[in-house]
Amino acid sequence: MTSLLPDLSTERLLLRPLVLEDHFAIQAIFPQWRIVRHLNPRVPWPYPADGALIFVRDVALPAMREGRAWHWSIRTRRAPDILIDVVSLMRDCDDNRGFWLDPTHWGQGLMREASDAATDYWFDVLDQPVLRVPKAIDNLASRALSVRSGMRVVWRGEKVYVEGSLPTELWEITADEWRRRQSRPAAK
Ligand SMILES: CC(C)(COP(=O)(O)OP(=O)(O)OC[C@H]1O[C@@H](n2cnc3c(N)ncnc32)[C@H](O)[C@@H]1OP(=O)(O)O)[C@@H](O)C(=O)NCCC(=O)NCCS
Repeated sequence: MTSLLPDLSTERLLLRPLVLEDHFAIQAIFPQWRIVRHLNPRVPWPYPADGALIFVRDVALPAMREGRAWHWSIRTRRAPDILIDVVSLMRDCDDNRGFWLDPTHWGQGLMREASDAATDYWFDVLDQPVLRVPKAIDNLASRALSVRSGMRVVWRGEKVYVEGSLPTELWEITADEWRRRQSRPAAK
């Protein structure tokens, strides 16, 4: 079955539906402690040599085919052949969006663009009423992204990450709040 997921774009980025061959680039970038430490403990660590292949082939692509998750590889418009990050949407309870970026590109506001494009898709195309994402309180960059995008903390507690159990906040934004923030009429 082919992916029905569309390409998306932002001012500086191209978002393409994840494909099997992306595992080569992911394997080359992703296994870095500063990327994985605040991610879901399903990420194996130390990261095996076939970790990205197993993730793309056995986890991400089947979930996309079954309509349980949506993953895009991200490239800059300047270098569209080079994967620099992955952004994901998931139907999982209280864990609907995930992202990571090649650290050589951190601090330029790129994830804000990618995250906004994926969030638009969640509300406008997938027509979901609410988006929730748990984040380690220590994950300052990711937290700042939530603040900037108008999300609210709805729960505080502990959650397990690759690094171990950490103080956590659950961030939320509703479709109405997102659309008001974007100053857009509702899609329907
Ligand atoms: C989270 C991540 C994708 C952010 O990517 P990025 O493109 O560097 O993010 P941005 O440049 O858009 O910056 C996001 C915000 O964080 C802020 N920020 C960045 N590093 C920070 C730090 N160390 N301390 C405080 N704020 C920080 C930026 O100033 C920006 O805030 P602003 O828009 O209000 O100015 C990147 O750090 C990453 O890949 N982390 C590892 C994976 C991960 O933790 N994913 C999220 C799991 S919840």
